[in-house]
Amino acid sequence: NAPVVAIVGATGAVGVELIRSLEMRNFPLSSLRLLASARSAGRTMDFRGAQVPVEELTEDSFAGVDIALFSAGATISRKFGPIAVAAGAQVIDNSSAFRMNDDVPLVVPEVNGDTIGNQSGIIANPNCVAAILTVALAPLHRKHTIRRLNIATYQAASGAGAAAMEELRQGTLAAIEGRDFTPEVLPHPYAFNIFSHNADVDPETGYNGEELKVIAETRRILARPDLPVGITCIRVPILRAHAMAVTVEFEEPVDEAEARALLAEGAGLRLVDDRAANHFPMPCEVSGGEDVHVGRIRRDLGDPSGRSLALFIAGDQLLKGAAQNAVQIAEALRA
Ligand code: A2P
Repeated sequence: NAPVVAIVGATGAVGVELIRSLEMRNFPLSSLRLLASARSAGRTMDFRGAQVPVEELTEDSFAGVDIALFSAGATISRKFGPIAVAAGAQVIDNSSAFRMNDDVPLVVPEVNGDTIGNQSGIIANPNCVAAILTVALAPLHRKHTIRRLNIATYQAASGAGAAAMEELRQGTLAAIEGRDFTPEVLPHPYAFNIFSHNADVDPETGYNGEELKVIAETRRILARPDLPVGITCIRVPILRAHAMAVTVEFEEPVDEAEARALLAEGAGLRLVDDRAANHFPMPCEVSGGEDVHVGRIRRDLGDPSGRSLALFIAGDQLLKGAAQNAVQIAEALRA
């Protein structure tokens, strides 16, 4: 008997992709309930050719729900996640609310699917950068001990929600037409600009909240609690795909050709590493697709010991970075 599935935040950037991922991956379900704020109640959204009404999220929303996919922010998850669990639902939460709780697995199925198991009724879906990054690191991490990571990200608007994507469109249009444009969702002009990630900055260390999440979650997903990770997170004017330049230092030198072969076989990965054609991972080629692309595999000239490789990675923020990973967790649970 197929489960009843609910999506909390169905009208948001990730919510829409959750609906699409359930369709694309042919997830077996007996009915779908779409939940959002009172603002959206009464709307309908298309699922498998039927119009499904959007209902207002309330404490009574979870009666009869087997799987609840949450994507309406950490505040909503903190309040309604435990309510959904109490009503008998298995919660898969896309927010940061529970990701570091010991009794909540933090899961990227290709990387640590074996950690899905005995738990509190909540499974956490990682931060988008951590999910895309660890899928690309997993084949290397399984064979060789990683000693240190250094990461620079190029992050899309979608991580800040549907309104930020629209602000990027409107701000770009205004810039091209020479009109003034005042951003309201993100703190800085987005068109033809890049800026440090909009998460709060810790005044002591100078690291922002996004960087701290990626560090903590990458360590947890790879089961390497002390792994040294350096990172700089930047927003770039891209709609929905994150890219990142990553330097991986290993305990022992890892041959470039071996790394390429491991990554070519990696689950959820596609090797895009054509030096002759200067063709490497790009947001325009991963947007809307399920695979994470990895390429530009080369020796890091900044490490004369020869123990470090440089990689460039790109993945769809809304799919592998959020909705698709959540649906893969639901699939793993059923299996
Ligand atoms: P709504 O569209 O009704 O505001 P995004 O990440 O793209 O900004 O989307 C956020 C999602 O979370 C939307 O589906 C939004 O619904 C939903 N949401 C925001 N606030 C609430 C709330 N108080 N109760 C239920 N859903 C909410």
